[in-house]
Amino acid sequence: MTRPKIFITRFIPDPGLNLVKEHFLPDIWVQDLPPSRTELVELARGVDGLLCLLTDNIDCEVMDAIGPQLKVISNMAVGVDNVDVAAATLRGIPVGNTPGVLTDATADQTFALMLSAARRIVEADRFLKAGKWVTWHPSLLLGADFAGSTLGIIGFGRIGQAVAKRAQGFDMRVLYHSPYAKPAYGAHPVDLDTLLHESDFVSIHVPLKSETKHLVNAEFLSKMKPNAVLVNTARGGVLDQNALHHALKSNQIFAAALDVTDPEPLPMDSSLLELENCIIVPHLGSASKKTRDMMSLLAAQNLVAGLKGERLPNCVNPEVYNALSSRNSIGTM
Ligand code: GLV
Repeated sequence: MTRPKIFITRFIPDPGLNLVKEHFLPDIWVQDLPPSRTELVELARGVDGLLCLLTDNIDCEVMDAIGPQLKVISNMAVGVDNVDVAAATLRGIPVGNTPGVLTDATADQTFALMLSAARRIVEADRFLKAGKWVTWHPSLLLGADFAGSTLGIIGFGRIGQAVAKRAQGFDMRVLYHSPYAKPAYGAHPVDLDTLLHESDFVSIHVPLKSETKHLVNAEFLSKMKPNAVLVNTARGGVLDQNALHHALKSNQIFAAALDVTDPEPLPMDSSLLELENCIIVPHLGSASKKTRDMMSLLAAQNLVAGLKGERLPNCVNPEVYNALSSRNSIGTM
């Protein structure tokens, strides 16, 4: 048997890289910026295995350019919206992802953003560093309370539930909207309108799919409370940024905190950047050393399994192994 060819689209952390290297001799894109589409196709043409990141758009054209020998696509992320999974399934290619290991890090990030937006931490830091702090004042930079408030979680999968678990420690009432998900951590299932009308904090945890594209739009925002804080640590495309800009600028809602944007990076002329009540960070939900190490390991395990003709430990399209498919339409992350 000839040695399988592999392309890894960026340097990934050692645990994953070492595992791949124990088995194979991969080609690796060593630059910090992702390969362009042309570069990716050029370098991945003829490979048996592809390990990619969420910055790589792996659509049917790319798959066809790589060739029919492609046995596995392993994405180092839990979200797989950058991969055309349906096209991979049609071609019989299993697609791997990295669920579970980033749940706590992403839930922590959600809370960090929620607290920062509610207590105006970023704005206060800027205020102080600009030399504007002249005295303690009873009404300086007042924010929103957590205790006794209501948190609405949209998408109640692993990460949504981990957010609910943390909310218990803050004495919050928790509502969630997610088809089929069972109640956990004291959270109550409700329809979307009830969640939006009653929540002081709304946190998004759905994957980006055609059904969830611009789920957060002008109508959605108009149903939120004027004191509400919106947090998105899922995917930028779930939110209509123009509608959010309008809602924040007109104080229709109190604040927003975004870990993700559309596109990424967010262009520096984005109107969201001019708003004091909008915190934006560069897609850092899973950005802890341990979490990224574990993500690389899971991605490598998927790649190695696929190349050995074994079932991927974490496969988003198990229907490639049997005809059964039972994925729901809104889903969770
Ligand atoms: C990060 O956003 C991921 O999907 O893993």
